[in-house]
Amino acid sequence: MKHFISVDDVTNIDTLADRALAYKAGPFADLALGAGKRIGMLFLNPSLRTRISTQIAAQNLGMEAIVFNIDKEGWALEFEEGTLMNGTTVEHVKDAAPVLGQYFEILCIRTFPSLQNRDADYAEKIINQFIKYTGVPVVSMESATLHPLQSLADIITIKETFKAEYRPKVVLSWAPHIKPIPHCVANSFAQWINAWGKADFVITHPDGYALAEQFTRGAVITNNQEEALKDADYVYIKNWSSYLDYGKILTPNPSWMLTNGKLKHTNQAKIMHCLPVRRNVELSDEVLDNKNSLVTQLAGNRVWAAQAVLSEILHTGLEHA
Ligand code: CP
Repeated sequence: MKHFISVDDVTNIDTLADRALAYKAGPFADLALGAGKRIGMLFLNPSLRTRISTQIAAQNLGMEAIVFNIDKEGWALEFEEGTLMNGTTVEHVKDAAPVLGQYFEILCIRTFPSLQNRDADYAEKIINQFIKYTGVPVVSMESATLHPLQSLADIITIKETFKAEYRPKVVLSWAPHIKPIPHCVANSFAQWINAWGKADFVITHPDGYALAEQFTRGAVITNNQEEALKDADYVYIKNWSSYLDYGKILTPNPSWMLTNGKLKHTNQAKIMHCLPVRRNVELSDEVLDNKNSLVTQLAGNRVWAAQAVLSEILHTGLEHA
């Protein structure tokens, strides 16, 4: 693996997920693999889970992880090519990225979308500029449109909790929120579940919240949440702003909050959410605090997902970036 930006960078999802589960069983099995190597973790946006789980993953492989909150502590970066830098930006990514490539064997980056300009966000300019100029493997810790480390942890969690012989029914349900939220987790979950191909996948959302077809293609999509939830084995609850009317909250739709009542006709569905979550807005306390909620286990699995990805890059990616 050269970079880890989307599911397209993964040769075999099950093999990668199995490697993650092997690390869960034996976290220090490859302690010597990353000895003497460093990862840089650049944050342009806040994080709890991604930051800490990726640091632990690197340490489990013997690597040193250096965190840099570049949005608060670094120079303001410019991403436009050929621009006259006489404004607020101080350093071009073309200059900063190769320097970081001198310091680190692997560079991990978190950035969010503007939610103002769809074409610019979906072009993934920021992470692509780092890939172009840094000269070392780049790992997305969430980009403008995708969150692959989260999605790998999602798959791992389904694999380790589903024991029946049939294909699980997995439902991604839109939830209300008080502010416009990126599409990354939903896009990425759809992309990974579709690529995995081992679940019956349904997406449900109110009218106007259709996700980009490039990620949802292959899923059953309905505006009827009740119908979607019927017989579900897993419900992934998540808000996202409109893709069509880009970055907008069209209507609050509080009735889409997930409650115990709505889960009555599921197959005692397990509940997933990437966190952080707005309690009693996206889903009710009773759902989140129920034994069927996987949110803490899922967040714990972020360590093993990150460890599997870093391990794969250490094994195969360092020569090829
Ligand atoms: N799920 C997730 O990425 O959490 P953080 O934003 O806290 O990293």
